[in-house]
Amino acid sequence: MNSFYKKDDWLIIEEGFHPEMNRESESIFSIGNGYMGQRGNFEEQYSGDSMQGSYVAGVYYPDKTRVGWWKNGYPEYFAKVLNAPNWIGIDVSVNGKDIDLATAKIISFSRILNMKEGYLERSFKVTVSGNKTIEINSRRFLSMAEPDLGIIRYSVRSIDFEGKLDYTVYIDADVRNEDTNYGNKFWKEVSREVTTDYGALIARTLKTDFHVATGMCFEFLKSDRNISVEPGIINRDKYIANTISVKIEKGEEVVLNKYVSILSSLNIPKERLPEDVIFRLKYAKARGYNKLFLDHIKEWEKLWTTSDVVIEGDLSAQQAIRFNIFHLYQTYTGKDERLNIGPKGFTGEKYGGSTYWDTEAFGLPFFLKTADQKVGRNLLFYRYKHLEKSIANAEKLGFKNGAALYPMVTMSGEECHNEWEITFEEIHRNGAIAYAIFNYIRHTGDEGYMADYGLEVLIGISRFWSQRATFSENLKKYVILGVTGPNEYENNVNNNWYTNLLAVWTLSYTIKNIRILEKENQDKLLALYRKINFNFSEEASRWQELVKDMYFPIDNKRNVFLQQDGFLDKVLAPASSIPSAERPINQHWSWDRILRSCFIKQADVLQGLYFFEDQFDTETIKRNFDFYEPMTVHESSLSACIHSIVASRIGNIEKAYELYLRTARLDLDDYNNEVSEGLHITSMAGTWLAIVEGFGGMRILDGKLLLNPLIPVNWQSYSFHSRFRGVLFEVKVTKDCVTITNISEKPLNLIMSDKEYQIERSGKLILNLKVE
Ligand code: BGC
Repeated sequence: MNSFYKKDDWLIIEEGFHPEMNRESESIFSIGNGYMGQRGNFEEQYSGDSMQGSYVAGVYYPDKTRVGWWKNGYPEYFAKVLNAPNWIGIDVSVNGKDIDLATAKIISFSRILNMKEGYLERSFKVTVSGNKTIEINSRRFLSMAEPDLGIIRYSVRSIDFEGKLDYTVYIDADVRNEDTNYGNKFWKEVSREVTTDYGALIARTLKTDFHVATGMCFEFLKSDRNISVEPGIINRDKYIANTISVKIEKGEEVVLNKYVSILSSLNIPKERLPEDVIFRLKYAKARGYNKLFLDHIKEWEKLWTTSDVVIEGDLSAQQAIRFNIFHLYQTYTGKDERLNIGPKGFTGEKYGGSTYWDTEAFGLPFFLKTADQKVGRNLLFYRYKHLEKSIANAEKLGFKNGAALYPMVTMSGEECHNEWEITFEEIHRNGAIAYAIFNYIRHTGDEGYMADYGLEVLIGISRFWSQRATFSENLKKYVILGVTGPNEYENNVNNNWYTNLLAVWTLSYTIKNIRILEKENQDKLLALYRKINFNFSEEASRWQELVKDMYFPIDNKRNVFLQQDGFLDKVLAPASSIPSAERPINQHWSWDRILRSCFIKQADVLQGLYFFEDQFDTETIKRNFDFYEPMTVHESSLSACIHSIVASRIGNIEKAYELYLRTARLDLDDYNNEVSEGLHITSMAGTWLAIVEGFGGMRILDGKLLLNPLIPVNWQSYSFHSRFRGVLFEVKVTKDCVTITNISEKPLNLIMSDKEYQIERSGKLILNLKVE
């Protein structure tokens, strides 16, 4: 763990120049707007260590799967989000010498991420021309108001230098991914055009043929007034630039505003891109930096109004939760049902920008509680549209009759992962997709979704569980063999408790909803049966048997659920017995040593107790928590948040708080020593849940909203916003009371300490924290 960034409630601050931390900082200082993202790279050239990253949502490349030992069923390709053409480039040279922070004499340096207003600011002073000083300040944002626009205000202030500044303002499509199998490049140029007023470069991706137009124009100002410049032109393969020379006097400031529009064929027909991108540039320049900036910060203001969490008395926790919320909304705004939430968002290449079960289990509940219902629906719809491909995926593995296995990792519905123990065995992801339908409907009350789309997905998944389970003559029970649970430090195990639980739950939830639709709209149900060739009495009788007779491993002595068969044969030891020099174990131990050990990567049994807590009493949850938490190394970012919620659930607020800090500051303090690769966006949603569902104790049970708040000892108060069935409300918890404010036009019903309350529109309810 390392506390490198300065603490502040709205800012992330890096002070001093630390080239050894540059990759980490580039991840931390990433900006995005749901359509594109940019790592915290420098505008000007940098010969030091850096990972360049500009990403356009949905624009990917299907790289050939590369494995030595091919297994039937492996996917043909692995989708990669591409490092897109570099739009930020501004090279500067002073009296003929290039500014390069790797070689420059740096007097001061800082990078600041302003989370309230959504921009990145970088300031540094360097010595130029022998002993003179200039100060550079760059501010950039990806507009939340106009998602194709990226704007940079790049100012050079001379302290005591007099002379010539030479700028090269460019777009470069000759870029690479760090993660390539064969070191190849993925972009081909389609066209380029550059004049003294603007430039536009259109590049296309190999294989997938996405076209991306990146256009730029600029202006120079001194004392807020435009100055005229005479731009030169560089026009070569995959690269366009304007060169500009400007004189600067002592004490003077020269400001360059670079306006960039990035459009892709995902949204605009290819043939229109050249014209549209120029149109957008003209618009951006006419609107001007200040107005575009104001439009952008207004959007952030709106987002914060409905999603901010305020913590009094704990700056570290305050900064962290805002950092998490900020990055979540930079990654996904929910306006496009074709997009999803990559585990690293737009902050790195790892995980290829693809979709994982993280979306349903972590991302969805955050967006259900903070955003309009359409956002959650879009996330569900993404999977609905992939149903056919999931059926094809299951067929490839030998399943039949419409059984659906959703991919572990996907971009467009096809499986993209090729480790057999994950691709074929980590089938619990299918259950998370079923659970998401339930979660969406209980949050929004949108029952219509079930009949229109949800049930079809549920039947596909239930068919899969039904075929995947087998009957054990020995146990006289149904078993699910050869799986990997969420804890990826165990592979190819039998009867992962969590997977079996999800399977049984999905089957009974599907049957329940078939019965409901049968009563409410038989015609619709029959039309669905015809569409998917489903015969209830034939197929569901086996489902019912499975529900009744599924095998669940348990330890009768300790009275805990067992993560899988044989778990007790391991040498059981607490994670605290691992020397700290050997943590994280995945960076120090051989894989086989990890597999043989009892150490748990992430919530597994506890993930099940979290999803289905109303099926278990507090004592049972506590016993399992006390058994598993000590053995858990939390080496997946998705772990500590679930443990924190469960710890709150059993009233262990100290532990809940300790785990909360770990999840909330996972990236800021680089707990798992991997921030250089990008941030853990999906776990950030878990962090938010650790406050709202953990400390706030918010639940939805039988269509009703429940609150059961606790407060960590060192917090004076905390407050959060949430939504339930179209009602937006705020909950503020202090040491002695809870104030719930209804911010919408509809009444809010909720239960606290077994009592039901109704809060009228715009009304407030104040309750004692501990109601006797
Ligand atoms: C976790 C998975 C997760 C993936 C992407 C892995 O380390 O074990 O559960 O889906 O990361 O976040």
